[in-house]
Amino acid sequence: MTVKERYEELKKKIVKRKEEFDAFVDMLEKKTSWLTSPASTRFHLNSEGGLLEHSVGVAETLLKLRETLAPQISEESCVIVGLFHDVGKIGMPGKPRYLKNTNQWEVEKRGMTYKVNPEETYMNLAVRSLYLIAKYIPLSDSEAQAILYHDGQYVEANKEVAHREVPLTLLVQFADNWTACIYEEGRPIQEDTDYYKKEND
Ligand SMILES: [Fe+2]
Ligand SMILES: [Fe+2]
Repeated sequence: MTVKERYEELKKKIVKRKEEFDAFVDMLEKKTSWLTSPASTRFHLNSEGGLLEHSVGVAETLLKLRETLAPQISEESCVIVGLFHDVGKIGMPGKPRYLKNTNQWEVEKRGMTYKVNPEETYMNLAVRSLYLIAKYIPLSDSEAQAILYHDGQYVEANKEVAHREVPLTLLVQFADNWTACIYEEGRPIQEDTDYYKKEND
């Protein structure tokens, strides 16, 4: 399945807030860089469509975790949180955050295929995600917390949520990391066979 097909499958899981979800997606697809934005300037998925690929991947991983660990949480919650946790990376409607880098030296030597739009109004990315989503889709407290703190303790400012994460927050943190490190970066899953050896062995 292509990323686009997987994206369409995820959309089908929205039932209760379909009207609001559809309005948000329509705005994203028509007025923002949502379908073309990279996921970063020089790290993972720094190419056209990278953000959508990452977002679809995280939503799918989150759905798998939900099924195994927390079927009480709705699939709809997982799709909204997984798919849009990084939506702040689009910037704002009409003001994309990432612009194609025209400096060939930086592109070739440093792998910086994109650069941050110098005209953006700075905002923490997770805050911007929550800000954008909340304008369109009514969220539960858990969904809001999960979007806001999805980077977990990798981000200094997220200390404030330590030990107070709701289950959905824990799940999206793990889904985000696993998707980026294993599926996108391709970190191999190998069994560690170097057992402890006794001296004189
Ligand atoms: Fe993120
Ligand atoms: Fe992410």
